[in-house]
Amino acid sequence: MENIKTGFHPPMGWNSWNTFTWDINEDLIKQVADVFVEEGYKDAGYEYIVIDDCWSLKQRDENGNLVADPEKFPSGMKALADYIHSKGLKFGMYSCAGTHTCAGYPGSFEYEFQDAKQFASWGVDYLKYDYCYKPRAMDGELLYRRMALALKNSGRDILFSACNWGEDHVHDWIRSAGAHMYRSTGDIQDNWDSIKRLANSQMDKAPFTGNFCHNDMDMLVVGMRGGSNNDFIGTIGGCTDTEYKTHFALWCMMGSPLMIGCDIRKADAMTKRILMNKNFIAINQDDEARGFYVLHPEPQWLTDSGCFILVKVLADGDLAIGFFNLGEGQRGIPLQFWDLGLSTASGEMLSLYDCWEEKELGVFKGQYHVVVPSHDCVILRGKIVPND
Ligand code: GLA
Repeated sequence: MENIKTGFHPPMGWNSWNTFTWDINEDLIKQVADVFVEEGYKDAGYEYIVIDDCWSLKQRDENGNLVADPEKFPSGMKALADYIHSKGLKFGMYSCAGTHTCAGYPGSFEYEFQDAKQFASWGVDYLKYDYCYKPRAMDGELLYRRMALALKNSGRDILFSACNWGEDHVHDWIRSAGAHMYRSTGDIQDNWDSIKRLANSQMDKAPFTGNFCHNDMDMLVVGMRGGSNNDFIGTIGGCTDTEYKTHFALWCMMGSPLMIGCDIRKADAMTKRILMNKNFIAINQDDEARGFYVLHPEPQWLTDSGCFILVKVLADGDLAIGFFNLGEGQRGIPLQFWDLGLSTASGEMLSLYDCWEEKELGVFKGQYHVVVPSHDCVILRGKIVPND
């Protein structure tokens, strides 16, 4: 999907952190770029390849510049950027608003303009900006404003991915500070409880997402299957296929950037089917990037047991409708069409398409009822059909 302008759609790509943490090097990054092209990720819309923390030396050089670790990146960052660009992809890197990154490497505090220029000179297209080691006396909003300004004036078009874990009421100020996406949650882990917790924490955040500044629910764990060298992310590692599918559907319906976190060189068929589901991606990448609204199905015990319906109004007038059952046990979830704005009197109907099964379900009037297994979801695209 062609970006009209940087940050217009929720960014899509891959990030090294979830699986590899410190164990990164240029061969790995190049292989990910190759896989993006050869296995269809690029065609599906994935674009950015992002190196997270642990890429630099522990000290700046005598001129105060960040230095890429020559053991991990012997050819240097410019050469790596060139390689990624030669594949028609974009290159992302990572720094931090504090004095150090979360893993203890130099942060950009008080070096914002210098580092932004450095990233630009390497050919960086995306900067993830973390929140560790922020001097307590400094205001986070000011530091994000500073880096946003530095990037905008770096001479290169660089997407700004703010990462302050949803703290300090970030949704109130991050769009005007200049970020294109911002973490609206804490760090994800490769387990179902984490996915459920992050999704539930976003229910009141929908009004804040939109073109040029997207709510970021953190990187995807789809396909990781417990394979992380990070103790935090990998604790109680792994999800079922159904849970990974629901995770991806939630991130798509909620408009989050889609940053893959698994080792895509080893992705199995189900992982690819989930990550490259074109119907889910089309909902995520809809031009109007509207936040979802939530319908809590009656009766009350259905809602209490973890069932809800997310609805997203799409640019062409269709509705994306997601029936989610995050609870235990199979449930029937009813949808009344008047809750979507359809009028009972004039009797408009909905033509429904199942985005996972890839099949037309038919035309329905008044209501629709689905049975959703535990931890699963049903994602439909509805087209309004006049009653004549
Ligand atoms: C924080 C971020 C993560 C990752 C690590 C790197 O925890 O939220 O996404 O970037 O730092 O150390």
